[in-house]
Amino acid sequence: MEILRHVIVLVHLIGFATLFGAWIVEAVSRRVRVTPLMNYGLLISLLTGLILAAPWGLEHDLNYAKIGVKLVVLIVIGALLGIGSARQKRTGAVPPVLFWLVGPLTVLNAALAVIWR
Ligand code: HEM
Repeated sequence: MEILRHVIVLVHLIGFATLFGAWIVEAVSRRVRVTPLMNYGLLISLLTGLILAAPWGLEHDLNYAKIGVKLVVLIVIGALLGIGSARQKRTGAVPPVLFWLVGPLTVLNAALAVIWR
């Protein structure tokens, strides 16, 4: 059970890497746009995060305040990506503020995960 939990944490990290990696590639190229890879990364993080939010394969208690905050942050990122890609389809451009919030909020969630115990 514990090994399976670690495998799910690994897939959770792959979701994080996919979302943040896809965002940073666009950011350093100064391409203010939403790509499908960002959505896939977010979806992987959400699904594996919900699995990890259940108390199995653990010897310690889960921090549900932290998990709740992470879920809210993820929903905000999802809204930014959703509104951003709708605007991208309609007008051809994503409002920069929506795009530039995605990366820092993703890092915020990773920071919450590792710093808030
Ligand atoms: C962009 C979104 C997210 C990012 C970047 C992210 C990042 C991370 C990272 C880096 C870890 C590893 C921490 C460590 O092992 O020290 C982690 C663990 C965890 N995450 Fe997330 N996360 C995200 C979304 C979520 C969501 C939405 C949930 C639940 C609703 C969640 C629940 C968890 C749980 C329960 C763990 C602990 C795993 C364990 O120690 O057994 N995460 N997250």
